[in-house]
Amino acid sequence: MLILGIETSCDETSAAVVEETGDAARPWSIRSNVVASQVPIHREWGGVVPELASRQHIRDICGVVERALADGGADWVDLGAVAVTQGPGLVGSLLVGVSFAKAAAAAAGLPLVGVHHLAGHIESLILENGEIPLPAVVLVVSGGHTSLYLVGRPGEYELLSHTRDDAAGEAYDKVAKLLGLGYPGGPVIDRLAAAGNDRAISLPTTRLTHTDRNAPALKGDLDFSFSGLKTAVLRHVRAHVGPLTDREIADVAATFQRVVVANLIDRLFDAARRYQAQSVGIAGGVSANSRLRAELKARGERREIPTFVPSLRLSTDNAAMIAAAGLRKFRAGFASTLDINADAALAL
Ligand code: KG4
Ligand code: ZN
Repeated sequence: MLILGIETSCDETSAAVVEETGDAARPWSIRSNVVASQVPIHREWGGVVPELASRQHIRDICGVVERALADGGADWVDLGAVAVTQGPGLVGSLLVGVSFAKAAAAAAGLPLVGVHHLAGHIESLILENGEIPLPAVVLVVSGGHTSLYLVGRPGEYELLSHTRDDAAGEAYDKVAKLLGLGYPGGPVIDRLAAAGNDRAISLPTTRLTHTDRNAPALKGDLDFSFSGLKTAVLRHVRAHVGPLTDREIADVAATFQRVVVANLIDRLFDAARRYQAQSVGIAGGVSANSRLRAELKARGERREIPTFVPSLRLSTDNAAMIAAAGLRKFRAGFASTLDINADAALAL
């Protein structure tokens, strides 16, 4: 069976055709995965402008879907279902994909599967690597999310912890902005950090021990927090006499990156130990980070636990991961009705 995936939750319009392989260990293969990035549009404003994002999705969606079908060698009659990101994300952006998918499913007489964006990020690990040993602890880390999930059985995602304030990618983007490095911040800080001294300045590591009043169901000690770190960088830049030199910017980037990565990796492996995970994974836009990937691998080898990441093209937002998560749900017997709505705060 072939499934069409559609993703429009933030600033990429994406469509993909994913095929079921029939191989239980490697259940899906990608026929096509087309991503129209809006980064050049939002860069001018220093971040994603929601209204511009939804308007651009409307312009791009038909062409992106047609291209995904053509690249995948598929026509509407060849498809078995349509999967779409239902949430969370920017509501105007989500609405474009959801409306398109509903109309397409109705017109082509196909089942519709609403998918949670983070289920897509988690399934990107399986799309890339095949089924991973379970239980697994997966860190989903992007511009909008920093959360740990326990995957006990295929398609089951239990939230273990989340960020109390900024997402890690958001912290990268804010720190890049205050260093005058432009948007998005992750890739540029990652690149500059390679040349900097990661102990050059003193930045705080936040370790939370108390329960989050807004999420009493979670224990809280596996939670993340990045706003204090961002403020510390801001204070450092403000206290500096005159503008920072390129060398000093590289030092700040390197130190910031060391602290963020240590925070993420420590919490991930704490959770892995607590839940006796058989593997760990990192997915989402920040999983593209070179230091995060290197430290994940090193720590995994030291702890003798297999580690997984998606390839770079599957780490940032894309529709292939949504198609994969959609297939997982569809095969578990789930289909959405045509009256589903976009949900900016959809729970997983
Ligand atoms: O998953 P994604 O494409 O979109 C969201 O769902 O948010 O993630 C985008 C985020 C941005 O904040 C970007 O700065 C960050 O991922 N990012 C990185 C790197 N590449 C992208 N952060 C750190 N290092 C990178 N190499
Ligand atoms: Zn994402």
